[in-house]
Amino acid sequence: MNVQELVAALTLEEKAGLCSGADFWHTKAVARLGIPAIKVSDGPHGLRTQKEGSDNPNDSIGAVCFPAGCAAAASFDPALTRRMGAALGREARASGVQVLLGPAVNIKRSPLCGRNFEYYSEDPYLAGELAAGFIQGVQSEGVGTIIKHFAANDQETRRLSVNSRIDERTLHEIYLPAFETAVKKAQPWTVMCSYNRLNGDYASENKPLLTDILRDDWGFEGFVMSDWGAVNDRVKGVAAGLELEMPGSGGVNDRKLVAAVQNGTLDEAVLDKAVTRILNIILRAADLAKTPAVFDRTADHALAVELAKQSGVLLRNLGALPLRKGQKVAYIGAFADLPRYQGGGSSHVNTTAVSAMDAAILNGRKVEYIEGFPADRDQRDEAEFLRAVNAAEAADVAVIFAGLPESFESEGGDRRHMRLPDCQNNLIARVAAVQKNTVVVLHTGSPVECPWADDVSSVLCMYLAGEGVGEATDALLWGDADPCGRLPETWPLRLEDTPCYLDFPGDGVTADYREGVYVGYRWYDARKMPVRWPFGHGLSYTGYVYRGAEFDTDEMAADGTVTVRVTVKNSGAMQGAEVVQLYVADMTGAPVAGGRVPQALRGFQKVDLQPGEEKVVAFTLTPRDLSRYSAEIHDWYAAPGKYEIRIGHSSRDIRAVLTLHYAGTRLLPLHIDETTPLGILLADPRTAPVVQRLLSEEAAAMSNGGGEGLMPPEALAQMFDGLTMRNMINFGGPEAEAKLLPVLEEIKKAVE
Ligand code: BGC
Repeated sequence: MNVQELVAALTLEEKAGLCSGADFWHTKAVARLGIPAIKVSDGPHGLRTQKEGSDNPNDSIGAVCFPAGCAAAASFDPALTRRMGAALGREARASGVQVLLGPAVNIKRSPLCGRNFEYYSEDPYLAGELAAGFIQGVQSEGVGTIIKHFAANDQETRRLSVNSRIDERTLHEIYLPAFETAVKKAQPWTVMCSYNRLNGDYASENKPLLTDILRDDWGFEGFVMSDWGAVNDRVKGVAAGLELEMPGSGGVNDRKLVAAVQNGTLDEAVLDKAVTRILNIILRAADLAKTPAVFDRTADHALAVELAKQSGVLLRNLGALPLRKGQKVAYIGAFADLPRYQGGGSSHVNTTAVSAMDAAILNGRKVEYIEGFPADRDQRDEAEFLRAVNAAEAADVAVIFAGLPESFESEGGDRRHMRLPDCQNNLIARVAAVQKNTVVVLHTGSPVECPWADDVSSVLCMYLAGEGVGEATDALLWGDADPCGRLPETWPLRLEDTPCYLDFPGDGVTADYREGVYVGYRWYDARKMPVRWPFGHGLSYTGYVYRGAEFDTDEMAADGTVTVRVTVKNSGAMQGAEVVQLYVADMTGAPVAGGRVPQALRGFQKVDLQPGEEKVVAFTLTPRDLSRYSAEIHDWYAAPGKYEIRIGHSSRDIRAVLTLHYAGTRLLPLHIDETTPLGILLADPRTAPVVQRLLSEEAAAMSNGGGEGLMPPEALAQMFDGLTMRNMINFGGPEAEAKLLPVLEEIKKAVE
């Protein structure tokens, strides 16, 4: 039977039943019609699937732990998330899992969000491209994905009920595009709606989100699954576009669906549509699952190591790195022995293959290890401190392995501050005071304040690098690999500098996104704030030179594209990979409701380069790349005029700037009445000529009336800018009214 015939053959109760899970990880089967159950399992960076025969949903099989989202994103390489996805897809299929619960792409609104370690970025463009790669990888192996958590689930505090209050432009410009890109480019089989409310309605019953945007605007073809337990009003949810409830409510909500159809509150055709969408995927999944998959744990571990190497970010280096053979090196900090490599919660992978300092020993490095401080708590032991400081002083280089203990960041809770444990900050400062070649290696899922940053020679951030962490860190520290990760988020100097410092996590009921579109670098750039390390930053042991940036044409039509090319050369002595980043800055001067962001990432490419080698990197831009979202027209919009195309090594290390003229003809609607300030009318090409004529007449009249020298011309100009026809009539009386009302009509006509 095909899906249509199956839906026709199902009873009402069976249809309602198919819209919720049978248990924590399975959909329901309908044996009499041959409909199989499928199994879904976490997660984004490793397979967390329940052991056969176990009755504990959290008792998972052993699996490979790849770099968590924070680290994978630092690779700035969708080809890499694709490879990781493909490996995960093979592991999932070999383990009988048909849908993998990832990727997780929520925007890092605040560094405090406890789940940031799972997410990719503060920038929606980067997050979307990486997610598309991941989805394509998993799905190329015949296993589905779920992109989560849709949408605006940017904090853990009260995540089950908090109302994320976001204006339309910000929602579309910052919080939705990662999902949009992934849906349009990669068609994930499923989307997971989040727990929270969005502008008043639970995501699980939010029709604008689940149907109008996701399906109608973006063309999503799969089905929507709830986050675990995220359903509020099940009937409203089905009508809004939530097809599958997980893990199911033991039948409670199925019965509500049956009753709603019977009493006419829910059209059975709506339920049929939901079942159709679910069955489309179930049948496809079951069919693909028939082809057995094999995976090679050793090869996947090697891939995890390679990915971790690609994701390490060298934040600072005055020369202590790379370490050199023959140097006397002290390794300090328990993270050397017990690196933190993944986060807590639903993404937690059961792995036994984590590498650590053993990699250094296997590679024959001569290092002395002193624990210094523990990895799991903030505890200071003066004797240990002294041992560490003495060893550091006696060595050629001191490498301190620092990081956030598990208890400091996890799914389920947000951080309250951005600090490392005091014991770590303290010991780093003391070691740096006696050893100029001090290196800090960081194992954290999100940025931390680094008060010692200017006092140490080098900082290498490994984020949460997965089970290959030890081998990857060893290769990067000792120069066997060149660090080529870049920061997918700004590292601020201090928590108080962050965009939503005053609003995060809200009052427990509502999270007001008052910073609007100023998230991440958009905020720090707009305020010209110093940061610890900017978005896109990452050093290398080699160097890159940019030259010859050029367009194929420097004018873009509304239906056109422009290609930008730049030559990048590896000018150093070591093989490396540069991430060429492209930012767009709107220089049109056109007014922007909600504010103009200084620049936005609109392209990036990672290129491998041998010493001396150069490559031409090309980017193709479309009008959408110049656009912001306009709430006036509920659509993306680029004003005609000038745009800067900035190409460089990071958001704050731009190497080439080109000016593009956009010849778009569309202008935003202008709503005009007697109270519209003249400045607005003067800024708009449609109304400017009429107003200019009026003003020149007025100026001539005024020059006869005296009053020169009353105020400086600049102030006078500003006063005119704010003046309205209403004011002019009030000052000028019936004569002015008789003159101005026809002018107003003329102006209104000009924008019709
Ligand atoms: C998490 C999801 C996860 C699900 C199943 C939820 O609590 O938010 O990300 O996939 O549990 O483990």
